[in-house]
Amino acid sequence: MHYPIPTDGPVGELLRAAGRHPYRPAHIHFLVAAPGYRELTTHIFIGGSDYIDSDAVFAVKGSLVKDFTENPDPEDAARYRVQSPFRHSRFDIVLHPES
Ligand SMILES: [Fe+2]
Repeated sequence: MHYPIPTDGPVGELLRAAGRHPYRPAHIHFLVAAPGYRELTTHIFIGGSDYIDSDAVFAVKGSLVKDFTENPDPEDAARYRVQSPFRHSRFDIVLHPES
């Protein structure tokens, strides 16, 4: 779900001065770590989300936008311990070796 960034400080003042809204499109944060690899902090955006073309913090890149498809199978939902139906997406996260 999209959400607004705080607008009660200097960032809000800047947004108002620029005539911009405070909303971020729906996204999921990741912090991925593995021994011997550089830690990665990133996020993906849900394709079709409100504000996907006007993120308040300009963080949307095409490669980070993913489509989610609905899975109506209750057995899959039970396996993943989520409610049915649910949505899912498949994407790769690549870590770079520590140098
Ligand atoms: Fe966020």
